[in-house]
Amino acid sequence: MNTNTIPAFGLGTFRLKDQVVIDSVKTGLELGYRLVDTAQIYGNETEVGQAIAESGVPRDELFITTKIWTANYAQDKLVPSLTDSLAKLRTDHVDLTLIHWPSPKNAVPVAEFMGALAEAKAQGLTKRIGVSNFTVALMKEAIAAVGADAIATNQIELHPYLQNRTVADFAKSEGIRITSYMTLAYGKVLKDPVIESIAAAHGATTAQVVLAWAMQLGYAVIPSSTKRANLESNLQAQALTLRDDEMAQIATLDRGERLTSPEGLAPAWD
Ligand SMILES: NC(=O)c1ccc[n+]([C@@H]2O[C@H](COP(=O)([O-])OP(=O)(O)OC[C@H]3O[C@@H](n4cnc5c(N)ncnc54)[C@H](OP(=O)(O)O)[C@@H]3O)[C@@H](O)[C@H]2O)c1
Repeated sequence: MNTNTIPAFGLGTFRLKDQVVIDSVKTGLELGYRLVDTAQIYGNETEVGQAIAESGVPRDELFITTKIWTANYAQDKLVPSLTDSLAKLRTDHVDLTLIHWPSPKNAVPVAEFMGALAEAKAQGLTKRIGVSNFTVALMKEAIAAVGADAIATNQIELHPYLQNRTVADFAKSEGIRITSYMTLAYGKVLKDPVIESIAAAHGATTAQVVLAWAMQLGYAVIPSSTKRANLESNLQAQALTLRDDEMAQIATLDRGERLTSPEGLAPAWD
């Protein structure tokens, strides 16, 4: 049994820097967000740490996720890099640490970085460990290294236009939670006519419909926003329940449209 539960709703911080990220995180925490998702490569861990400290929200109410950058996967680099992240985030542990992308050109074997991540957990630097942008084949390697029970999540691009069912179904069969990133497809799905009509029927926003759809499928979500009104209304997606026929309508929107596939990083997608 995988007991590494993670919250269903959180705040993303990709692309947000300096005062923008400080304001977004402080506003989010004020509105009731309790999970903040950052990464070493986002270059904003210091500002996220500052925003958390200034928010006054007690550390034990928060769930902080960071992601190890690919340059830090070697066995002798991973733990020191996480220790550096903890200093920036002004905390002695994070709640979840992810391997951000598969190791480019397999430079560091999966077993090595998963082993180092497990060691970071054993040292108390992170409560949970997981992966991101992993295919089924890579998940199998990670499972072989540390066991499915040790892997809290695979964080992947997943939205109505890229429903990623092969990876999601495999993760489910192994008891590993999927975290959907770019659930809103960076805004692209918010003008979809099918989603607009479902939103109108509920008196909801299109963003709320998409977030509710993902959560109803069992995925955790981490939408980002720089605007208070969007942060506030997105959070209320947790109160929205879609009907089975509405879920089925959104299921038909899948068109395999991937927005994030950086050259040199992206694996051979399923
Ligand atoms: N593991 C990975 O490799 C990876 C990759 C990408 C992202 N992520 C994580 O996933 C998080 C979410 O992804 P994302 O930030 O790229 O994209 P996203 O959450 O799908 O979309 C964010 C965009 O949607 C807009 N938006 C948010 N709420 C809205 C609303 N209610 N109405 C209209 N527009 C709205 C935001 O604009 P405004 O600011 O104007 O509201 C922003 O431009 C990231 O922040 C990051 O933490 C992880």
